[in-house]
This record gives sequence, C-alpha cells and structure tokens, in this order.
Amino acid sequence: MQHVPVLLRESLELLAPERGGLFVDCTLGLGGHAQAVLEAAPEARLVGIDRDPEAIARAGERLSRFGARVSLVTGNFSEVRSLLGELGIERVDGGLLADLGVSSMQLETPGRGFSFRLEGPLDMRMGAGELTAGDIVNGYQEGELVRIFKDYGEERRSRRIAREIVERRARKPVETTGELREIVAGVSGPRHRTRGRRIDPATRVFQALRIAVNEELSGLEKLLDQAVELLDQDGRLVVISYHSLEDRIVKHTLRNLARGEVDQTTGRTRSETRVIELLTGKPVRPQPEEVAANPRSRSARLRAARRL
Ligand SMILES: C[S@@+](CC[C@H](N)C(=O)[O-])C[C@H]1O[C@@H](n2cnc3c(N)ncnc32)[C@H](O)[C@@H]1O
Repeated sequence: MQHVPVLLRESLELLAPERGGLFVDCTLGLGGHAQAVLEAAPEARLVGIDRDPEAIARAGERLSRFGARVSLVTGNFSEVRSLLGELGIERVDGGLLADLGVSSMQLETPGRGFSFRLEGPLDMRMGAGELTAGDIVNGYQEGELVRIFKDYGEERRSRRIAREIVERRARKPVETTGELREIVAGVSGPRHRTRGRRIDPATRVFQALRIAVNEELSGLEKLLDQAVELLDQDGRLVVISYHSLEDRIVKHTLRNLARGEVDQTTGRTRSETRVIELLTGKPVRPQPEEVAANPRSRSARLRAARRL
C-alpha cells in the first residue's frame, strides 16, 4: 500500500536539511518525508516517531539503508521531549516535521475502522490507546456525542445524529463503520455539498470520532509547545494539517510565539520575547497538479517557522 507524501518539495524547502543536523519526523507514517530528508543531505540524521507500531515497522524497512543515521521510536508526539530524552537528545538543531492525521495505510486497512467507505469494526485507534470509536458511540451519553460531533466535526446535524445513535444502540450496539454511516445517511440524506464539493454525510462524524479517540487536538498543542522549546536557534518547524481545527491551533500558536509577549503596562509586544519567525505568512497549499495526482493532499495546509 502506497502513501504519497504530501507537499514534499515545499516541506524540504522549509526544513532545509542541507544545513545538516538532527531532524525529527514526529509523524513518520510510511517514511516518505523522512526518506526525502535523509536523501537530501548526507549530514542529516533523523529520529522518526509514530504511535502506530505497524508504521514504525514498515518505515523501518524502507529506511534501513540509512543505517545509524536513523532511529525510530514508537510513541505519541505529545511526549516528544521525553521520547527524545530517552535517546539522550535534549536539543534539535535541524528541525521538526509533523504531517498530521492518518496515513493511507491506516485509512485503507478495513480492520482499523477509519474509513466509512470500507466495512470494518468501529475502532479508529492510531496507536495503543484503549478507547475505541465503538466505545464512544455505544457508551457516551447523548450530550457528549453532540459535543464531539459539533466541536470536532463541525457537524450541523449533531443533535439529530446523536439522538438516532442513542435510539439504535438501545436495541443493538452499533458495531461497524457501515452501520454508523447508514445511521448518519438516514439523518442527513445520502450526500451534501460543502463549498461546491460533494462530501459523504458521514465525513464529519467519522472525523470527529477519530479526533476524540486519539485526542488529536490536545496532542497537537502539546507537540507545538515542546517543539519550539527543543529547537536550537535557526532550527525549523514544519506542520502540515488537514482540517481547519488543526490548522487553527497551528496558526494561533505560531502567531503568538512569533509576536512575543505583551507588556502589561504599555500594552505593546516586547520584541525581545519573540521565540520564532514565521516562514509562511499564508499557509502553503498544494498545487493543482499535486491535488490531481493525490486527492488526499486536497485539504493540506503547511505552516512553518524558524527558531530565533
Ligand atoms: C499522514 S501520516 C504521515 C505520512 C508520512 N509523512 C509519509 O510521508 O509517509 C501521519 C502519521 O502520523 C501518525 N500520528 C498521528 N498522530 C500521532 C501522534 N499523536 N503521535 C505519533 N504519531 C502520530 C499516524 O499514526 C500516521 O502514521
């Protein structure tokens, strides 16, 4: 199964691996970006992190030819500082990359339950967590389901979908991706349009459950905080996000760090407290050719910064 790396050329330009040093790929996946970083500069070393042991195993095979230049770790990037600490690493001089979300390998494996197009169990765990999407769908109170669909899916029909789920599960637990998709379609109609694009009505509900199962938003906040602290001067941070909730967090966090602290008495920002310089004003989006070749890149937005 292939996973085509998204915004690869743009990521490399902003990471600038030709400077050499240590690079941390916080979302190794199948190792596409990691391989390109290692190929771009013989002096670059790389630590690859992924919470999915299967991704680590696959990327390990792919990157084996780089020998001691590569170390791979199974773990959650929300603990990046301690994961690196276990390898004796306290500073990162090259850069950190996070290419968020799920890989094609995860999405296209029916047994993992990420895709509403493939019949499978309601799982959606990226890593070793205990909570599954099925636990949420069958166990959470109606009000909590509404909040998850609304906050993490920006789903307008959250109340009606949650109500329908609660009625259905009283008769029999909702066990598969297909059953959940059918419940959502029953409430929303078969398809609707968002900004001219036709999307499956289950898209938002599945996104919301995945975010909740994997605690994706709080994990991203923790990653960003630690990443800027780990970086040496001139080190780079590159983050690719795939939906507006993630991108909003990246945008606001980076913008605040680039602006510096506000002086409480004068109300002015103190420029000496600036931590990073933004390398991207607007987010970098894929070119139409990339979207045509790899539809998964369609929603990607890349933001990057340099440690001051
Ligand atoms: C979009 S894929 C990365 C693909 C990779 N850049 C490539 O070119 O092959 C995202 C990967 O990040 C991993 N991931 C997502 N959230 C994570 C987290 N909090 N900690 C560690 N890995 C995470 C997923 O398991 C998945 O393998």
